[in-house]
Amino acid sequence: APLLSTHHLGQSIHFHESLPSTNEAAFRLAQDGAEHGEVVITEQQTAGRGRRGRTWVSPSGLNLYFSAILRPELPPQRAPELTLVAAVALAEALRETDADALIKWPNDVQIGGRKVAGILTELSAEPERVHFVVLGIGVNLNAGPEDFPPEVATTATSLSQALGRRVNRALFTTALWGRLEEWLDLHHEVGFDPVRQRWKELSATLRQEVLVRTDRSELRGVAEDIDVSGALLVRTAGGSLERVLAGDVEQLRP
Ligand code: BTN
Repeated sequence: APLLSTHHLGQSIHFHESLPSTNEAAFRLAQDGAEHGEVVITEQQTAGRGRRGRTWVSPSGLNLYFSAILRPELPPQRAPELTLVAAVALAEALRETDADALIKWPNDVQIGGRKVAGILTELSAEPERVHFVVLGIGVNLNAGPEDFPPEVATTATSLSQALGRRVNRALFTTALWGRLEEWLDLHHEVGFDPVRQRWKELSATLRQEVLVRTDRSELRGVAEDIDVSGALLVRTAGGSLERVLAGDVEQLRP
């Protein structure tokens, strides 16, 4: 069996054949006192959640769906950094298999411009203190094009589609958890800067012409940088630099 190199992450596992959503299950466990590093993992989700109210297609037996409970020593306003920590770990774990994975801001992981993994972070906090964070990750490992509904099939891919071979889920999962714990530890000890530097190296978004849709508006320009809190900085045609904290990015010219 593959060796899990972590100290905390995934050392306690709650496995299910089927769940509505691992994020939902992990949130409840955390409310009941589950510890830092406990993981909920399932073969399939019947109501997998994506960002911005979307669903995450979660067929049985093929892919990876898990949520980690984290109890970070962070002020609530810095919790979003953890999503970028996870994106970096994910991109690195995928690249370790030889796939050319890159991060689309803020935290979609892509291969060849198609989405292979997603991250959904949910937070329970008071103004001054984080109770816990649920870090939910879905990775399309062995799904074929036929496993996605038609409207998703054109924008999604899986690691096995990219590599042209089946992927061992247990091996990939332990490799990912190892990376994730390393980056979480570094983030805890050193702060966000090394994460931000690595994120920039792995970014598919920076230097690209983008269209950003937020809840309120649309913004067009060149993605120049991410700032110290992970917000995207977009240079508009008028020359101003706009800061985007949350939204969807469409790349206009690849
Ligand atoms: C996104 O929209 O990109 C985020 C997708 C996150 C999906 C994962 S699968 C495991 C965990 N449980 C959920 O319900 N969602 C996340």
